[in-house]
Amino acid sequence: MLPVVVAIDGPAGAGKSTIAKALARALSVGYLDTGAMYRGVTWAVLRRGLQATDVEAVARVAREVVFVQTADSLHVDGIDATSAIRTPEVDAAVSHVAVNSDVRGEMRERQRQWIVEHGGGVVEGRDIGSVVFPDAALKVYLVASPLVRAQRRVAQHGGDVAEITRAIAERDQRDSNRDDSPLRQTPDAVVVDTSERTIDEVVADIRQLLTARLKSS
Ligand code: DC
Repeated sequence: MLPVVVAIDGPAGAGKSTIAKALARALSVGYLDTGAMYRGVTWAVLRRGLQATDVEAVARVAREVVFVQTADSLHVDGIDATSAIRTPEVDAAVSHVAVNSDVRGEMRERQRQWIVEHGGGVVEGRDIGSVVFPDAALKVYLVASPLVRAQRRVAQHGGDVAEITRAIAERDQRDSNRDDSPLRQTPDAVVVDTSERTIDEVVADIRQLLTARLKSS
């Protein structure tokens, strides 16, 4: 049997990490946060004093950077970067790194390798169902209202709701309009709105969808 992949895509603040992690735990499978990988490359770039817009230098960093990733942590080149990849500096630079096609090619390979090594799992990102695993057993596209998304970010990291709403809209815009694997919902993805629902409700819904998919395949 092929490894079972559940792809969780959607914009920032839709609840992807929380839901994907809880789903993986409920299914007793691995969880891969691909956003953390793009953040890890960005952190490595900034740490080397390079510009996120320097296409060739950034591509080189993506090829040479060593990640050790678990569901809750990311070590980059032997350093625990779990918190450092969530700073405003990385937030501001990451979509410049994520538009780099060489970086995306390298990350895609690493993500596919992770699935082979783990025999399947829950993978969270922007292009997982559309590009990385187009044959995923289940593709979920998570959404939430802009206000709820900003409120969640503020609850996690602090800040001003209006300012964060603007920053989220800007990042969505860049993620959705880049040429290489933009954020988009595929026709075969199931859209789940997390705005008014609890984590447990959403996870239960996705588990049901997955059971139905696996039965019918
Ligand atoms: O999910 P996140 O906010 O940690 O993602 C960080 C950035 O990486 C975000 O700007 C989108 C980008 N990203 C991407 O381009 N492709 C992915 N598969 C995952 C994240």
